[in-house]
Amino acid sequence: MVLDLRVDRANVGYRVQTLAGDGVGTEIWTLMAPLAPRRTAIEVRYYLPERRRERLEALAEKYRCSCEQLWDEDEAMMMRRDSLTARAAARRLRRTLPLPLILGELSELRRQLPLLVEYDGEEFRVVELEDGTLLAHATTCPHWLGPLGGAASGKGMLRCPWHGYLFDIRTGESADGRGYRLAQSPRVVVDPATDEVSLIACARAL
Ligand code: FES
Repeated sequence: MVLDLRVDRANVGYRVQTLAGDGVGTEIWTLMAPLAPRRTAIEVRYYLPERRRERLEALAEKYRCSCEQLWDEDEAMMMRRDSLTARAAARRLRRTLPLPLILGELSELRRQLPLLVEYDGEEFRVVELEDGTLLAHATTCPHWLGPLGGAASGKGMLRCPWHGYLFDIRTGESADGRGYRLAQSPRVVVDPATDEVSLIACARAL
């Protein structure tokens, strides 16, 4: 399929035209009108190269449903990005380190891994690597903020389910040369005397 995307900045909209493949000749116009600081009216127009009435009605219904779904998903994604960005900004302004979070006794914790925990208002996933090292990693992908809480992991790597980018869990760095880095995570510390496991913030996160 070949698509042609044209952005019309002057009229706050864009047009997608199918040049080849399924639906060739179809044009979709998306027009937006700001209503208030956090409200936008969106109108989506479909121009279909189809003249048979019945077929046209079926296509219209199909496009209407998929459009609604896509915009709902986009809206949810943008709201998530918005709230994560605001939380990160609030954290940067704070001057003190959060207190350690006690996760419990080592053998009990191991039974629950991988474990999602909230620490300092952020979600992390505690995992155990093949060599027995316990680590926490951020659950938000630095690419488009995809969810990493249930991401496939193995051999110290983590793969984002949205676009497949790969991260080294130990360093947080991209493992596929893309230059991204996971947000800094707290350290997982095991008290050798009691086997109690805690999450402890790293000073350079501030
Ligand atoms: S959002 Fe994770 S790879 Fe794109």
